[in-house]
Amino acid sequence: MNNYQKAFESYLKLTDEKERFFDYLSEVIQKFKIKSILDIGAGNGDLAIPLSGVVERYVAVERNKNFIRILESKNLEVIQGDFLEEELPIKSKFDLVLCSYVIPHEDSSDKFISKAFHHVKWGGQLLIITHTNPQVELGNFCENLDLENEWNDPTFSPRMIELLSKLGEVKQKNLSTAIISDNLEDLFLALSFGFSIGSEEKEKLFFEKKHEAFKFLEKNYSKDGKYIFPFKHEIIHCKKT
Ligand SMILES: C[S@@+](CC[C@H](N)C(=O)[O-])C[C@H]1O[C@@H](n2cnc3c(N)ncnc32)[C@H](O)[C@@H]1O
Repeated sequence: MNNYQKAFESYLKLTDEKERFFDYLSEVIQKFKIKSILDIGAGNGDLAIPLSGVVERYVAVERNKNFIRILESKNLEVIQGDFLEEELPIKSKFDLVLCSYVIPHEDSSDKFISKAFHHVKWGGQLLIITHTNPQVELGNFCENLDLENEWNDPTFSPRMIELLSKLGEVKQKNLSTAIISDNLEDLFLALSFGFSIGSEEKEKLFFEKKHEAFKFLEKNYSKDGKYIFPFKHEIIHCKKT
């Protein structure tokens, strides 16, 4: 297993993100009587698998072959391919179209959002989950360690909101989660996933700062023998009216 995979697994093991997202989305499903979900970029299924159990129809779109295998092994209906680049055979429309951490932070985000909104039923909604901008804690962490902060793109959310406001009724919320560990080494590894997102070069830069990072985390994020590193997410609902 390479470092990035280890970091990804450490992040998945230590974050309470999927439980928090599941709780939030379960409330949305109940409140709006949602029966069908299209989950674009369903990933390894940590969220998709439990969610698929609480609605009548759950369709996952995914381009990563390993994740497709996992989703299919849990009997999820999977449409394979690149949502942005291909015309995928998504026939019907859905009460809720979910885009959790999948919208690219580039010009193609507009195309992604318009395509996703097309699959929302009349009266249904598009629900986007992304990190808040700026991502304060990780931003401070990077600043203190003299690392470039990739988590600050203040133009991303306003651009999405502007586009979505032309499409439907928009509401925004913030949701807090955390990476929790009693082991500093594991926390550091999980944070390296957040920082490098697959780039070996960035991972190397991050690991060079290990000593300073340990000191910073010990001083700022340790409480009662545990390390708790907060992470804030932005949730955007856009109702098709
Ligand atoms: C960061 S993961 C998020 C997974 C899941 N939505 C969650 O929040 O736990 C992003 C996932 O979207 C998939 N993905 C990204 N862009 C995609 C695209 N254009 N078409 C299909 N899948 C895509 C990736 O393969 C990856 O599994």
